[in-house]
Order: sequence, then structure tokens, then C-alpha cells
Amino acid sequence: MGCGPGRILKLLQLHGQDAVGFDIDQVVVALCHERGIKNTFVESYDNIDRFSPVDTVLWLNRTLCTAGSLPRIESLLTSSRLCCSKEGVLIFDSVEVGPELANDGPGVLQTSVHFRYNKKVGEPFGRTCFSSNIAERVLQTSGWKVTDTIRDADVYTMVCKTA
Ligand SMILES: C[S@@+](CC[C@H](N)C(=O)[O-])C[C@H]1O[C@@H](n2cnc3c(N)ncnc32)[C@H](O)[C@@H]1O
Repeated sequence: MGCGPGRILKLLQLHGQDAVGFDIDQVVVALCHERGIKNTFVESYDNIDRFSPVDTVLWLNRTLCTAGSLPRIESLLTSSRLCCSKEGVLIFDSVEVGPELANDGPGVLQTSVHFRYNKKVGEPFGRTCFSSNIAERVLQTSGWKVTDTIRDADVYTMVCKTA
């Protein structure tokens, strides 16, 4: 989901995985093609059902945070569940949000960010970071069960299976 220029996709394909990637940004999908990465499409992650059924859904490098709000994150986790086979796996990451940073209820941080490269500045977009306890609550209502949580400083990665 939101594969960017294919950093993870390339590795998966090199290891022989039947991996599909898509991103809303046509520039990064063109970069995937240039880099010889197969099965990449310009598509919004709101249309994940186009790729159904899949065994594993990957939302890596804070891609789920780009959904921009907690209700949208919940809805994307539900559609990730619906497009998975019966024994599907979900892997995503986010950042723990302490009380000093939370600005949209406990454990939730809303920010607006944009990319800058030399003198070029991109359009701003909303970013929603959510703590692991918030994630556990949202996963329950969207049909997922957490099987593992991997931590690296304030970043956590959750591995889930269908409930
Ligand atoms: C933080 S980057 C992560 C890229 C990649 N997953 C990685 O780990 O290198 C988030 C990506 O999500 C994409 N994105 C944002 N909104 C999207 C949407 N509605 N549908 C598909 N991709 C989207 C962005 O274009 C960007 O490439």
C-alpha cells in the first residue's frame, strides 16, 4: 500500500514473492517501472479491493499515517481485512504518541507535512500518528488480532492475523 519508488517491493520481488504495489503518485510508480519493479500501478489505497484477494497487506514506513484521520485509518484497516484471504496477515507501523505530543485525543497526533527537495516544495498532506493502544482498539473493530509488536525507539510495528 503506497509503495513509493518500490524500496520494499523490489526486495520482495528479488526474493521471489508475488508482490503487487500501488501508489497514488504517478511519479513514484514511473520510478518503480524504471527500476525494473513489476506489478506496480497508479491507484489509491481506497481502491484496495481491486487487488483482492491477497495473503498479506503491508502498510510500511508510516504509510497508514498518511490516511490523515483515525476514522479513515479504521476504514482502511477494515478494507484491508476484506481484501485478504481467510488466513490473511497485516503488517503496519506507527509511532507512540506521548501526552506531551497528543493533540487529537490521547495517543493521537495530527500534523500537516510537506516534502521539500532543493527549492521544490510539495503540497501539504495530513499525517495521523497513533499509539499502539489506540491501534489495538481500532484493530479489534476492523477484524484483526495482533500477534506481535516489534519496537524500535518510539516506532512500533504490528503483525496481525485475521480475527
Ligand atoms: C511514507 S511513504 C512510504 C513509501 C513506501 N511504503 C516505503 O516504505 O518506502 C507513503 C506513500 O504513500 C503514498 N500515498 C499517499 N496517499 C495515498 C493514497 N491515497 N493511495 C495510495 N498511495 C498513497 C505516497 O505517495 C507515498 O509514496
